Amino acid sequence: MPQFPSTSAPPALDFQQVRKTYPGQPQPALHDLTLRVPRGSRMGIIGRSGAGKSTLVRLISGLDHADSGVLFARGEAVHGPQLRAHQARTGLVFQQFNLLAQRTALQNVALPLELRGVPRARRDALAREQLRLVGLEALADRYPAQLSGGQKQRVGIARALVTGPDLLLADEATSALDPETSASILSLLLDIQQERDLTLVIVTHQMEVVRAVTTHVAVLDRGTIVETGETGTVLRAPQHPVTRALLGAHRPQVPLADHETLRHLTLPDLNPDTLAALGRSGARLVQAQAHPQGVDVWLAVSAHLPLHLPGSAPLAVGA
Ligand SMILES: Nc1ncnc2c1ncn2[C@@H]1O[C@H](COP(=O)(O)OP(=O)(O)O)[C@@H](O)[C@H]1O
Ligand SMILES: [Mg+2]
Repeated sequence: MPQFPSTSAPPALDFQQVRKTYPGQPQPALHDLTLRVPRGSRMGIIGRSGAGKSTLVRLISGLDHADSGVLFARGEAVHGPQLRAHQARTGLVFQQFNLLAQRTALQNVALPLELRGVPRARRDALAREQLRLVGLEALADRYPAQLSGGQKQRVGIARALVTGPDLLLADEATSALDPETSASILSLLLDIQQERDLTLVIVTHQMEVVRAVTTHVAVLDRGTIVETGETGTVLRAPQHPVTRALLGAHRPQVPLADHETLRHLTLPDLNPDTLAALGRSGARLVQAQAHPQGVDVWLAVSAHLPLHLPGSAPLAVGA
């Protein structure tokens, strides 16, 4: 095979065997984490609560550092002297907006520039321009308490963009919003990503968010990436039980008795022993779907009886 010199730009982010353990915690929050985020992609990081998503964002944003392994951003390791330059090119949008209550929308957006010593007139002009882009120019002098959740998040996005980043991180940016506002914020992020040719990393526990905006997805479970690929491919043919559990959260519409609740499990298989054990636990099989790595099942489970399964534990337990 002829060797061609590589002319392709390095990925926006490249995690190599990254590990992070919080002090006093027995288990690492992230371990063996290996992930590439292509430049200009919209990467969804999805996982259940506690999977390590926010830890991943903290590492990317430089708020925290790995115990071992390396994180490269734009081809350079993120630590030491490169850290400040990396942070200047990385915007962060938070779930709870994190606006300063005693500052107006304009002053909140201008804050990152103020911290970098940009003169007042210049930073106000830049902040006003960002507010215009998120549709809030008219509300520049309002305080956070005078803004709706969606408007606060628009201020948060304007603040994240004011330094001109090429990488934008959104950690559960729409989780505190109602579905309609959430959709408008997602569409704003999508427009901004395309207009400015940014790399967008969007962290969420909601598969709808992945479906709506991302080009790529990585599924995080217990601190490690269990599946990653182009969004269309992963959604069409999810390989890992956790991915399927996240997708399978579409609850079947079936009538339930008063004492029953629906549970979603991925089992290694559905053999006669399993079926007999389900029967003894008072569980009804509502829906089952086989795939190469097991069987996704929805059960109507009696609240009065504990659910016992024979042999191996479920591969994944969903909602
Ligand atoms: N500051 C911290 N100190 C100790 N443990 C933490 C801290 N932050 C997160 N953790 C733990 O690390 C794991 C991953 O947390 P997090 O990254 O917040 O997950 P997610 O955002 O996916 O819900 C969890 O077990 C959590 O309890
Ligand atoms: Mg989180």
